[in-house]
Amino acid sequence: MKSAILVFLGSRRLILSGPLLLLNALALQAACAFALHESFDVREATIDSVHNALFTGLTSCRGVVSAFLSRIEELNPLINAVIGLNPDALAIADEMDQRMVAGNVTGKLFCIPVLLKENYDATPMNTTGGCMALAGKRPAKDASTVKALKRENAIILGKVNMHEMALEGLSVSTLGGQTFNPYDQTRTPGGSSGGTGAAIATSFAVFGTGTDTVNSLRSPASANNLVSVRPTRGLISRAGVIPVSYTQDTAGPIARNIKDLAIALTVMASIGFDEADNATALPPSELVGKDYSAELHGGHLKGLRFGALNGFRNYTASSETTPIINVMDDMIKFLKSEGAHVVDTTEDAIFTATEILAELDVQQYEYRELLDAYLAGSDSDGTAPTSFNDLYTKGKFIVIPSQYAYVKNAFVSSTGSESYALRQLGIKNLTNALLSMFSCHKLDALIYPEQKNLVVKIGSASQSGRNGILAALTGLPVVTVPAGFSPRSEDAPIGVPIGMEMMGLPFSEGKLLNIASHITHLHSTRRMPTFANRSVEVKEYSEVPVIRPNMGNIPAAYPIGVLS
Ligand SMILES: *[C@@H]1O[C@H](CO)[C@@H](O)[C@H](O)[C@H]1NC(C)=O
Ligand SMILES: *[C@@H]1O[C@H](CO)[C@@H](O)[C@H](O)[C@H]1NC(C)=O
Ligand SMILES: *[C@@H]1O[C@H](CO)[C@@H](O)[C@H](O)[C@H]1NC(C)=O
Ligand SMILES: *[C@@H]1O[C@H](CO)[C@@H](O)[C@H](O)[C@H]1NC(C)=O
Ligand SMILES: *[C@@H]1O[C@H](CO)[C@@H](O)[C@H](O)[C@H]1NC(C)=O
Ligand SMILES: *[C@@H]1O[C@H](CO)[C@@H](O)[C@H](O)[C@H]1NC(C)=O
Repeated sequence: MKSAILVFLGSRRLILSGPLLLLNALALQAACAFALHESFDVREATIDSVHNALFTGLTSCRGVVSAFLSRIEELNPLINAVIGLNPDALAIADEMDQRMVAGNVTGKLFCIPVLLKENYDATPMNTTGGCMALAGKRPAKDASTVKALKRENAIILGKVNMHEMALEGLSVSTLGGQTFNPYDQTRTPGGSSGGTGAAIATSFAVFGTGTDTVNSLRSPASANNLVSVRPTRGLISRAGVIPVSYTQDTAGPIARNIKDLAIALTVMASIGFDEADNATALPPSELVGKDYSAELHGGHLKGLRFGALNGFRNYTASSETTPIINVMDDMIKFLKSEGAHVVDTTEDAIFTATEILAELDVQQYEYRELLDAYLAGSDSDGTAPTSFNDLYTKGKFIVIPSQYAYVKNAFVSSTGSESYALRQLGIKNLTNALLSMFSCHKLDALIYPEQKNLVVKIGSASQSGRNGILAALTGLPVVTVPAGFSPRSEDAPIGVPIGMEMMGLPFSEGKLLNIASHITHLHSTRRMPTFANRSVEVKEYSEVPVIRPNMGNIPAAYPIGVLS
């Protein structure tokens, strides 16, 4: 008689079934107006599915938030992605529920739980960049993007771990420890927005935010079977996000499907010109207020022209590289089968990711000046380090030699130096060459794997083999889509995800998202991580549980120390 049993598990939710119990349920509901929410499963939830569940009375906003909190409490210890929750999340959900009763539902993201990378300022939480030395840095106000998300009534659920200060792609930090890849716990989740990738793949929220200075919105999407957009330089304000590079930094969303990604982009880009980030003066004025979800379904792949950047592959066969070659070959076969043209651009040998990175990357020149400005202006109680020198001479860090080589350069480099000007000239040349290639081959997009090898194992010295630098320097937009998986193995029960970058001309996000929408519908490879593909019992919370950063699991390969 299982169906007539009322189970009460301490503070846990009631599991109700059978007509008799419905009466009990109704009595309970009277005392707690929005209590019933077992019936909405938040695994793979989308903006539309949450809204449908809310507006048909299947669940309440408190129910939606509680369901995600329950998943986080139960599954986060296995991947260590979330490092802090918003103590106000349930109170905001209750306010949304009251607004539904009052018929006052507004906003594209009404009651949509969102997780933020730990470098976004969002009150009432601290912004640490994953760095122990910044644990007490309390922002005075929200980042411009966070303001935009809140204006559309998104619920900021919490913060996720990142590679410390966004300087590498391993997603390990002194404050947050190591985040694990949900598809293969012996591997990193990519980075630096690796906490976002791991959390969104595991359905800890509907979507998340990341930042990208070289690879960081694309590497976690690629490694976690997700979609992301690195926007054209200037499309989304970066104000209120811990900076690294004026030339290379971008902010953007990471999601499980293209429609959610397009809506998130629409909201984040809705800020338009922001006087706190002068690059936002660049987009043409007709893009301000553009709805990127409106044009996902028209058109087709037939007749489109893709340039395959074969120089962005590693043809030396190995278990780490061959799966990438195979998955990209399959993707190209698929595109051709849909009537698209795939142009070989091997001739255009100027594009070698490793060389471009070595010769033209400008982070080390821009980092100190930007961080000085950010740290001086953003701590509300003045206890955190207030300058680059203050932070890097006092704080302790995950010491990865390659990562901190340029921090040391940053002490003595500046945007006033001659070599900086030369690099900026080189970037102009590179951009011109890239734009000529688009014109010459009449390309709609360039395609290449985000990474030449599978996302690296925990404890590796760097996230090697990534191809993000071309877009990072030239400021062109990229939408990343899942391309496939490596073969299954003991560590990776459904394989390790492999993602493809699609780069377009400046401000062609709408077109790229349309192409990505066709690809993800016709060639869908989205799979939940095996360990997370189960429903988690929803708890009844009186308050948001406290999740503390897990500093205890930093791999031995990464000593913690001062920079010397
Ligand atoms: C809807 O709710 C918002 C936020 O609480 C409030 O500012 C606004 O006045 C409400 N509108 C109506 C018509 O009640
Ligand atoms: C955030 O910063 C404040 C102010 O420095 C500090 O008191 C508080 O403990 C910090 N919160 C967390 C969760 O570390
Ligand atoms: C924009 O801001 C950057 C960095 O703060 C500064 O170097 C640059 O001169 C500014 N450009 C304009 C046009 O104001
Ligand atoms: C950029 O291109 C110009 C003109 O072709 C050339 O003279 C210059 O050397 C190039 N500079 C760099 C840094 O590549
Ligand atoms: C290419 O892959 C091989 C085999 O995994 C590896 O040894 C080599 O370092 C890679 N080269 C590059 C440029 O990534
Ligand atoms: C979850 O697991 C079931 C059963 O193994 C499978 O059929 C389904 O496709 C999985 N869902 C996702 C989204 O991967």
